[in-house]
Amino acid sequence: MTSTARFLEGQVALVTGGGGGIGRSIACHYAKAGARVVVADLDDDAGAETVRQITDAGGTALFQHTDVASAEDARALVAKALSVYGKLDIACNNAGVAPPATPLAEIDDALWRRILSINLDGVFYGMRAQIPALLDNGGGVIVNVASILGQVGFPGMAPYVATKHAVVGLTKQVAVDYADKGVRAIAVGPAFIKTGMENNLDPEERSALETEHPVGRMGEPEEVGSVVAMVSAPNWTFVNGAYLPIDGGYLSR
Ligand SMILES: NC(=O)c1ccc[n+]([C@@H]2O[C@H](COP(=O)([O-])OP(=O)(O)OC[C@H]3O[C@@H](n4cnc5c(N)ncnc54)[C@H](O)[C@@H]3O)[C@@H](O)[C@H]2O)c1
Repeated sequence: MTSTARFLEGQVALVTGGGGGIGRSIACHYAKAGARVVVADLDDDAGAETVRQITDAGGTALFQHTDVASAEDARALVAKALSVYGKLDIACNNAGVAPPATPLAEIDDALWRRILSINLDGVFYGMRAQIPALLDNGGGVIVNVASILGQVGFPGMAPYVATKHAVVGLTKQVAVDYADKGVRAIAVGPAFIKTGMENNLDPEERSALETEHPVGRMGEPEEVGSVVAMVSAPNWTFVNGAYLPIDGGYLSR
């Protein structure tokens, strides 16, 4: 299958955080593969830009303002996909935020709650709203964007590490609860991806971070988006509950 194959022709996909680096790449790859895409984001301009890029390239997409930390928004997002495109085949729960690096004992309640509400509640609210639509559709796939930090710790990242481990666990739980009803769930685990945050690193920090990846560099959003589109394809029928690293070998050391 080449990257230009329309292996998602006729499918309807939604992507949360679709205005950001990784989410935009996922949305564009879904559209390129033939899916109609609902782009969800808190940032209206960023989401609209993703839709513009998709439609300029001949694809079909719409934007829905969404705060994934709101159960109501999660339901409205699915309702939008159903009302405009008539069904839901693919849901990618990608929106997530990282805290400023803080040792665990210095994390205040507000920071802890904020990261959990977006990274963990957001994925739960999302899947709770998405699963009935996937069941009505006769099946479908959920791809949750976790992280390498869904498998290992990282200095100062306690709430992020906790939420990403939990997302990997929730993904397995969907497989256990819904595999026999045709719903698949996969968690992907990117290592450090160039989405802008690396601009704040000084050259020494950047070089240290790059060296932690056996490939010797950070990843590009494109290297995540293309893989997420592939694992969303309807012929990946026997892959369920899996955690797939997209990490340049980071977890293999
Ligand atoms: N960049 C990396 O190195 C990296 C590595 C591993 C995993 N991830 C994960 O990939 C996902 C995307 O990260 P990214 O680097 O593209 O981030 P990003 O900051 O570039 O984009 C995130 C997008 O999510 C949106 N967003 C933030 N809070 C939201 C909310 N409450 N509701 C809806 N949308 C919201 C933002 O507006 C933004 O458009 C996250 O889950 C992140 O944890 C990123």
